[in-house]
Amino acid sequence: MIYAGIAGTGSYLPERVMLNAELEEMVETSDDWIQSRTGIKQRHIARDDESTCDMGLVAAANAIASAGVDKNDIDLIIFATSTPDQTFPSTACLLQRELGISNNCMAFDVQAVCAGFVYALNIANNFVKTGAAKCILVVGADCLSKIVDWTDRSTCILFGDGAGAVVVTAQDQPGIYNSVLHANGNYANLLQVPSGVSRPGNKPYIEMTGSEVFKFAVNSMESIVDEVLTDTGLEQADIDWLVPHQANKRILSATAKKLSLPVEKVVITVQDHGNTSAASIPLALDVAVNDGRIQRGHLLMMEAIGGGFAWGAVLLRY
Ligand code: UT7
Repeated sequence: MIYAGIAGTGSYLPERVMLNAELEEMVETSDDWIQSRTGIKQRHIARDDESTCDMGLVAAANAIASAGVDKNDIDLIIFATSTPDQTFPSTACLLQRELGISNNCMAFDVQAVCAGFVYALNIANNFVKTGAAKCILVVGADCLSKIVDWTDRSTCILFGDGAGAVVVTAQDQPGIYNSVLHANGNYANLLQVPSGVSRPGNKPYIEMTGSEVFKFAVNSMESIVDEVLTDTGLEQADIDWLVPHQANKRILSATAKKLSLPVEKVVITVQDHGNTSAASIPLALDVAVNDGRIQRGHLLMMEAIGGGFAWGAVLLRY
């Protein structure tokens, strides 16, 4: 059997930190409201001239160094983002160029909003299991500050910019045990950027019915954990770390409670990063690997939900 495993991790956060106090100057809100309703204390904001690919490049270079692979051994780049640099080429192709990978490897983007990284990891797993690729660079990066309506207090307090990356390689033991993905486009209007390329309009910013997304998030994250454990021979009690999408600390606490998982076993970075969409899981993973919490051999559960709705989970031994 061939399995996919994570050989190395990397991440990047823009230099500029925006504290809640700065938002108090922009919209009618307060540090107290933001912290108590979301857990967020600060987020990082990209420079005007800093793109999703720029951020992904640093995260990818760190992941490649951490994995100890030669960049020209990478045979596929999967870039999860909803904020690509250009309509085309894909951000994955731009990243391939910036990394100087000269082997004509496959490269494409995945658009599953906040679930983008779990979608990309699931795809990487299938490429490895079928033998179609052996060394895959999976990047999750988003520059949401550029599609936030900075006059809308219900959304602008939530989001931040950043990038995370992993190198996935073929190995003879798990690795990824299981992964499940779902989507339901009937919920599209609850979390969306209404204007786009083929449907232009005057609403190129994030709109969200937060309370509805919140309820769906808590319920779906609970059921998907059971689903991804099915037929693996593993159970909830075996999970060492939940590495979830970082949208709201209250969602993370509610999910941990429903799983009877102590909150200490949940990697929580939302207070420092805000919601960075496709970047949030690989960023949280890299933080917890670097501070020594996540060790080789630990069992990790990753799960995310976002616009679409699209949601999914990955169960893997690090
Ligand atoms: O990554 C994709 C997934 N996204 C998520 O999972 C986000 C899920 N949703 C959430 O995290 C929460 O719904 C929010 C943090 C967005 C909002 O929290 P909430 O507890 O659901 O608040 P709410 O939308 O029900 O609003 C409660 C009140 C309202 O005032 P009234 O109508 O009760 O007078 C809002 O106008 O809070 C008000 N409000 C604010 N007040 C101060 C909304 N935003 C703010 C704000 N500062 N920034």
